[in-house]
Amino acid sequence: GSVAVILPAAGSGSRFGEEENKLFASLGNRSLWMHAVEIFLRRTEVGMIVLAVSDRDRERFEREIRELSGSDRIRVVLGGDERSDTVAAALDEIDRESANTIEWVAVHDAARPLVRDTDLDDVFDAARQTNAAILATPVTGTLKREPAGNREDGARTGDAGLGHGTTFDRRGMWVAQTPQVFQLSLIRGAYDRHRGRRATDDAELVERMGHPVALVPGAADNLKITYPADLLLAEALLSERMK
Ligand code: CTP
Ligand code: MG
Repeated sequence: GSVAVILPAAGSGSRFGEEENKLFASLGNRSLWMHAVEIFLRRTEVGMIVLAVSDRDRERFEREIRELSGSDRIRVVLGGDERSDTVAAALDEIDRESANTIEWVAVHDAARPLVRDTDLDDVFDAARQTNAAILATPVTGTLKREPAGNREDGARTGDAGLGHGTTFDRRGMWVAQTPQVFQLSLIRGAYDRHRGRRATDDAELVERMGHPVALVPGAADNLKITYPADLLLAEALLSERMK
């Protein structure tokens, strides 16, 4: 297979609010993270999967990997403090291992267990045509920008008062999902140039190189598990698909 899949799994799941990483929460009788791995293990174009984990969780991941068949294609590396550090570490592993067989890199959040095979077909096809493509969905809510707001969970770090929202026109606005698929040399170059820059999305670094990134409409149910309610919804969607 000419595709390497990077699965960032080195976060702590702080917004999920449990002591252990949300990726070990149970979904459909196995750990949440295993779903993404199994989806990619089924695809023949995938030559290797790099699972990037934190030091704290490493042993548990390695233990659970042994429950998967096809685990010889999985490599475990240590991630970093920011998601972009984690992806950079995984790219280094691909350089060490691939011996020029890898042409494409797909980065997919380990916390997205429900990505559909048809969406994977679409985003891989688009990447082959344009060298860089991501799944995304149109924004559904009305967007408000609060000038002082700069934290991921919406809480303000500065003054204590209520913030003032300014409405953004949502037409033409998309929410990025994963996978995000790139030609190896393109994402390699983007990370070499922007190493250390905080980015929650790999496409941003590629855009900064001046390379366009194609938006491929994905299913709205390609959820990222962030809060406990996301897991409840994922459980319901999964049992619906099993019917
Ligand atoms: N991730 C990572 N390395 C980091 C931070 C995040 O590999 N330094 C991974 C997470 O494990 C997750 C994915 O990136 O699979 C998406 O990140 P997110 O949903 O934000 O997960 P966490 O960072 O773990 O959660 P939180 O932000 O609530 O702490
Ligand atoms: Mg995070």
